[in-house]
Amino acid sequence: MSKGLFVTGTDTGVGKTVVTGLLARILRKQGLRVGVMKPVETGCPREGDQLAPQDALFLRRISGCTAPPEVVTPYAFAEPLAPAIAAELAGCSIELSHIRSCYEQLLTQHDYVLVEGAGGLLVPLTAQHTMHDMAVALGLPILVVACNKLGTINHTALTVTVARERSQVIGIVLNHTQAIDDMLML
Ligand SMILES: Nc1ncnc2c1ncn2[C@@H]1O[C@H](COP(=O)(O)OP(=O)(O)OP(=O)(O)O)[C@@H](O)[C@H]1O
Ligand SMILES: [Mg+2]
Repeated sequence: MSKGLFVTGTDTGVGKTVVTGLLARILRKQGLRVGVMKPVETGCPREGDQLAPQDALFLRRISGCTAPPEVVTPYAFAEPLAPAIAAELAGCSIELSHIRSCYEQLLTQHDYVLVEGAGGLLVPLTAQHTMHDMAVALGLPILVVACNKLGTINHTALTVTVARERSQVIGIVLNHTQAIDDMLML
C-alpha cells in the first residue's frame, strides 16, 4: 500500500488545502507521523526577505510536520501564476527529480505523506510536464477535491478521466467552500 497521497482539485480554490489539512489531522489523531508537501506554491507573500507559502505553512502547522520549509515546498514563487510561468519569470527551473528526492526524504521520517498539487492536474509544471506528471513521478494515488456547485459534474469527470489514464483514483471529495451557516445567509 502507498504511504502517500496526492491531493488534486477540479480547479484552483476548491478546497485542496482544507481537505489535505483535515486528512492530516485525522491521521495524526490516529497516532501516525504525518508529513506534508506542497511541492510548488505560487502567489506567496513576502515576509522580510523570504517568501511565505501559505498552504505549506497551514499544512505544516495542522500536521505537526517539522520538516524544513525547503523540503515541504522546494519551489515557492511570488507571482500568482501557473508554476511553469512563475518559475520562468523567477529564472528558475522546476526539476521533478528534486521534488522526488524531497518526497523520499519525507517518507523516511513519516508514516504517511500528503502531497497537495497546485491548481488542477493539467496545470503546466514545466514546459514539458504537468501537475499529473508530478503525481506519476512520485508514484502516488490521487484524491480529487471538487467544488459542489453547478458545472462540477463536467469538471470532476474530466479530472477523473485524465487521472485514471496513469494513476489510481482513490476518491472524490465534494466540498463546500463556504461554511453551511454562510450559505444559509445567501
Ligand atoms: N469545507 C469548507 N468550509 C469552509 N470554507 C472552506 C471549505 N473548503 C474550503 N474553504 C475555503 O475556501 C477557500 C479555498 O480553499 P483552499 O485554500 O483549501 O483551496 P485550494 O484548492 O487549496 O486552493 P489553491 O488552488 O489556491 O491551493 C479558502 O478560503 C478556504 O478557507
Ligand atoms: Mg491550496
